[in-house]
Amino acid sequence: MVVAVTAPEPTGIVVLVSGSGTNLQALIDATADPAYGVRILAVGADRAGISGLHRAAAAGIPTFVCRVEDHATRAAWDEALAERIADHEPAFVVSAGFMKILGPRVLGQHVVLNTHPALLPAFPGAHAVRDALAAGATVTGCTVHVVDAGVDTGPVLAQATVEVRPDDTEDTLHERIKAVEHPLLVTLVGRAAREGITVTDGKASIP
Ligand code: GRF
Repeated sequence: MVVAVTAPEPTGIVVLVSGSGTNLQALIDATADPAYGVRILAVGADRAGISGLHRAAAAGIPTFVCRVEDHATRAAWDEALAERIADHEPAFVVSAGFMKILGPRVLGQHVVLNTHPALLPAFPGAHAVRDALAAGATVTGCTVHVVDAGVDTGPVLAQATVEVRPDDTEDTLHERIKAVEHPLLVTLVGRAAREGITVTDGKASIP
């Protein structure tokens, strides 16, 4: 008797980036293990020439760029980005340092997970690390959450804390946040891919 055992298909995701892409790299590295259960179908960016796109290309992952300034309106950009993502038919999308607010077309078509470098609801927005330092916080961290129509307001899936040191600069603190952010994002994306994610009435859960 011949018994063929095939591994289950990995869950396909699209990752959106705007910068250095160290969170993307952590995801790329995790996908090397088939047991992780994730395949990055494409990496999208809102600007060209960034390290995140180079990391994707180096890993043989298709990339696309969808720039706001190439569209007549923000709504047209939103629609174009939704289509570029949908072309790859991902199960869900990961915003990993994507520095644009996603619009209703993208969010209507796709579940999007985001990683944010603070303990939401504290310090939402684009300068979370700087804001935590300026506020004199002694503890900050990172949050993985589902994106909703607000700015960093969507349901939280997981958080990790980081101590703020008296001599911290924005750069040193952000580096230590990234050190805990990478494994947290890798864990949550893997769990969402393998176990599924449910978003109902503003609440998110992975079984
Ligand atoms: C991360 O800390 C993310 O939370 C924030 O921007 C940073 C992106 O870093 N939104 P990288 O591009 O993944 O290195």
